[in-house]
Amino acid sequence: MERILLVLFLSACLIFSSSLSRQYHFVDLALTWTEAQAYCRQTLTDIVTIQDSEELTRLLDTLSSARHSSDAWIGLYSVVHWMWSDGFTGAGANYSNWEIIFNEPNFIGASQFCVSVGSSGLWWDDYCSENYSVVCYNGTQLDPQYVYVNKEMNWSSAQMYCRENFVDLATVSSDEQNWMIEKLMYFGSYSWIGLFRYSNFFWSDGSSVSFTNWDNVYNPIDSMTLICGITSVNNGGKWRFLSCETKLPVVCYHDPIVKKQSVKLSVKLRLKTEDSVNLNDAVLKDSILKKLQDRLEENGGDEITLKWREQPDGEVFKKEGQAVVPVL
Ligand SMILES: *[C@@H]1O[C@H](CO)[C@@H](O)[C@H](O)[C@H]1NC(C)=O
Ligand SMILES: *[C@@H]1O[C@H](CO)[C@@H](O)[C@H](O)[C@H]1NC(C)=O
Ligand SMILES: *[C@@H]1O[C@H](CO)[C@@H](O)[C@H](O)[C@H]1NC(C)=O
Ligand SMILES: *[C@@H]1O[C@H](CO)[C@@H](O)[C@H](O)[C@H]1NC(C)=O
Repeated sequence: MERILLVLFLSACLIFSSSLSRQYHFVDLALTWTEAQAYCRQTLTDIVTIQDSEELTRLLDTLSSARHSSDAWIGLYSVVHWMWSDGFTGAGANYSNWEIIFNEPNFIGASQFCVSVGSSGLWWDDYCSENYSVVCYNGTQLDPQYVYVNKEMNWSSAQMYCRENFVDLATVSSDEQNWMIEKLMYFGSYSWIGLFRYSNFFWSDGSSVSFTNWDNVYNPIDSMTLICGITSVNNGGKWRFLSCETKLPVVCYHDPIVKKQSVKLSVKLRLKTEDSVNLNDAVLKDSILKKLQDRLEENGGDEITLKWREQPDGEVFKKEGQAVVPVL
């Protein structure tokens, strides 16, 4: 009986690693934020970063499967650096007169970056978009004459107004100067002064903070220069800041080192058969493929998936001599 050659094509799909997504790990130790960061970096990748609501859900799932229902560190932090509108850094630049009864500066909802003074002379951190009257100064930094502007506007408009009409928003560097301002104010009113800080939020792993999930609560800053973020599981995973020295458990993340990669190869096989054998028979094709796949697995190729590649006419095997589709 005549033997003929058949040509077949086979595509193999190789998949390395099973998943692209990060793995979250709950670490039930009492650590300061800096210790937590060091721990996560040594054992896994870093403290957890949350970039969207899907990641937030995964984080909460991780905590709930660990049966943790209170607070845990996340990789979020903010640098607290107060500045004066006129850039003053001389003696008394860090003078302050916060309303401590209300835990000022309390950074409510992680949204208060500008400072107002109340008619009692006490200071509040506040939403920069609030409309208040304004205290500007004229003269010099060392010998300021404070000017009360009885028009309500937000902090940046107040800054522009003071710079256009006087020197700048008020800089206050002593009790004596603060008293001069207090005397200008109407009972029960608030006015902008020149103190503010830049809005800044960072993730430990350096990725940028775009998605946020703030809790609308106090984030007392006191005299801290760094504040660190937690997720409150018993409050829907909302975020707030604590002193970085607080001792809490942490959620770390791990990025699998080998990323999912799929490589497609085509392999051309030649089989010798009897003329009567129809290799395009579905049962026969499947059984050959299964044999090949088993052989591969025996030799350590379990991540390789084989399948037949059909020709444009739907057939896999061609008698040699007929048109052969080139191998990719
Ligand atoms: C104010 O700043 C000076 C240095 O510029 C520092 O020595 C001092 O401790 C600071 N005072 C407060 C209350 O932060
Ligand atoms: C402040 O007011 C000005 C003028 O009304 C407006 O253009 C600006 O967006 C406001 N800024 C904030 C932070 O509310
Ligand atoms: C401040 O005043 C402007 C103009 O009247 C207004 O559009 C804005 O909503 C006010 N801002 C707040 C926080 O009330
Ligand atoms: C502010 O100071 C300038 C220059 O010293 C002076 O011409 C101006 O009258 C002062 N304005 C007020 C409101 O005191």
